[in-house]
Amino acid sequence: MITKKHQKKVVVVGVNEGHDGGAAVVIDGIVRCAISEERLNRKKYSPGYLNSFFYCLNALNLKIEDISLIVFSNYHRPLSNHYQGALKSLGISNQKFITVDHHLSHAFGAYFLSPFEDALILVVDGQGNYNDAESYYIGERQKVEKIGGNSQDRIPAKGIGRTYEAFTNFLGWIDQEAGKTMALAAYGDPKFFKIPLFTLKGIEVVGALNYKYEKGAIDFAKRYSLDFGPPYARGTTQKSAHIAAYIQSETERIIIELVRELVKRTGKRKLCMAGGVALNCVANAKLLQSGIVDDIFVLPAASDKGQCIGNALYGFYRLTGYLPRQPLHNDYFGREYSEDEIISVLQRERGYIEKHIPTHCGFQFKKQSPISRVVAELLAEGKIVAWFQGGSELGPRALGHRSILCDPRKIESRERLNQTIKHRESFRPFAPSCLLEKASKYFKCDRPFPYMLFALPVKSDKINEIPAVIHKNSTARIQTVTKEENDIFYDLIKEFYKLTGIPMLLNTSFNSQEPIVETPENALSTFLKTDLDYLAIGDYLVWKKK
Ligand SMILES: [Fe+2]
Repeated sequence: MITKKHQKKVVVVGVNEGHDGGAAVVIDGIVRCAISEERLNRKKYSPGYLNSFFYCLNALNLKIEDISLIVFSNYHRPLSNHYQGALKSLGISNQKFITVDHHLSHAFGAYFLSPFEDALILVVDGQGNYNDAESYYIGERQKVEKIGGNSQDRIPAKGIGRTYEAFTNFLGWIDQEAGKTMALAAYGDPKFFKIPLFTLKGIEVVGALNYKYEKGAIDFAKRYSLDFGPPYARGTTQKSAHIAAYIQSETERIIIELVRELVKRTGKRKLCMAGGVALNCVANAKLLQSGIVDDIFVLPAASDKGQCIGNALYGFYRLTGYLPRQPLHNDYFGREYSEDEIISVLQRERGYIEKHIPTHCGFQFKKQSPISRVVAELLAEGKIVAWFQGGSELGPRALGHRSILCDPRKIESRERLNQTIKHRESFRPFAPSCLLEKASKYFKCDRPFPYMLFALPVKSDKINEIPAVIHKNSTARIQTVTKEENDIFYDLIKEFYKLTGIPMLLNTSFNSQEPIVETPENALSTFLKTDLDYLAIGDYLVWKKK
């Protein structure tokens, strides 16, 4: 119940100080702003929250005194009561600080931002509080109740997330780069290794590894006499692709088995998912295609990037006993930058280059009307354009606010994009952003998929039309785009469609071996240091002088 007391502004800040740190603000139960620390300090997956904390307060014009409650995430060993961390010097009362269980925070974010009133909630990550790795909840209107999870006696190495991380480490990447393993899997044979990596006992997953990190995979291979080849191959050998395919297919299998059992026990056929493993868009699609559940909602910031939001939602609930349902419509939780701010950055940087770097060719800019038509023409000519509009996405996928775009028909554009801008491994696919009403013509797509969290099969007669956005296994991690969710991005794709007959663009995150750009300064810097042809920022088109 909302009482009169709670109708005044209730401001709750959620902060996560572990990896993928950040802050979010919920006002009167609604998420108003959220950002990851990495976007501000420019260090990928950075822990911490101080920059994010003040970013959110400034964006919403809030003062410290306006804050009703601050909620920290617990992780591994829970924090002490009223833990204040680096906010101690602000002189805020101890009573305004609480902590929340790591997995419960994931569950709150996934359920209260989902479109479902009655759902099963599955949280799967590397490690939450103590030995938590898989937790199961049910969400019914105002209630989020834990119904099970792995036992605390099970060592972390036996969880789904830690097992996937161990194989990712063996292949040569850090935990947060599990997406590289997922991408590489399409090049391998999942049946090359035949020992089951997981078994399901009741509703508990038991993995076969005995150690975390690459040691777990090496020890496992030795125990079962499997030839994994040398570690850290980074996708350069066929064997490493087989290993990736192995962990990927075993992960899909165990998630499907687990959800089948949970559905049987709860009767819930709508599923909310969060935790880093929920970013596995191949497993998500297979789970949906299995028909075990009717629908799946995955929080776009499913990893710990979304903890700040879960924390703030939980805090509001604790304070008021109520949380308004707010089905997510987009992932744009960053602040917007005004036209004045954009012009001022462009003018200042241009002046600086002219004055201090005479050897630099410099850049020019001009307001365009409408920017969507001008950019669509450039894209149709084969240009690669950085696209900066509105507030940034919180999750790891660029969804049309901090994107680099090019023509999905042209393999050569994709090669240039990879070699001169993104510098990514060649086995990693690029994703399409497609007008929702045209998506079913190209993909096996029967509903909106707005967040690039499901890798859908591409229709066989369309594969040759859009080769730059199709993965080795003929799937694409699609974003469906509607005018309601993203007005200007929709207009851009529509203009491109009018020019080319193709209702989609290749869309990748606006960065170059760094966190996604946040500010106009970041955008201009990445534009100038790479081979990007144009930058569209607000209504302004920026190009390099030759
Ligand atoms: Fe987590």
